[in-house]
Amino acid sequence: MHHKFEFEYEALTDSSQLSTEDQSLLEAARKATETAYAPYSNFHVGAAARLSSGQIIIGSNQESTSFPVGICAERTLLNSVGSQFPTLTISTMAISYHPVGKDANEPISPCGMCRQSLLDYENRYGAPIKIILAGMSGKVMIIASASMLLPFGFDGAILK
Ligand code: THU
Repeated sequence: MHHKFEFEYEALTDSSQLSTEDQSLLEAARKATETAYAPYSNFHVGAAARLSSGQIIIGSNQESTSFPVGICAERTLLNSVGSQFPTLTISTMAISYHPVGKDANEPISPCGMCRQSLLDYENRYGAPIKIILAGMSGKVMIIASASMLLPFGFDGAILK
């Protein structure tokens, strides 16, 4: 028996096609790239989350002299929301980036570790986290639930 996994996402030519709310979230993610500490990769990533309260919280990648110790923007943000706002949930996360000296017109997509963490937070919340991906300009991708980015992800329910 063969099975097929498919998911749908939306692609827009630029951010002007987003709702006003999502445009400001993406702008916050773009601005958050300025807070990245990325002297080793020169790849500045910013993420912004809209919480159930309406507040916008940002995160950015924070690198380390011991390279594997560095953390991506998405997990900086998730863990910061988890610890500072434990009673709130994230409805949408926007992710952008800015490589020093280069253009960023294409979206980037979260790494495998961040996908696991996003899935964990969705499971904690019992609600989807919408993901908006874009560079500093150009194409925007919208994914309705972070879980779609990690098919066959580890389901923590088995640990119970
Ligand atoms: N990085 C992120 O912050 N998020 C991603 O989605 C991909 C990669 C960071 C990790 C590292 O600091 C730099 O970008 C280059 O990999």
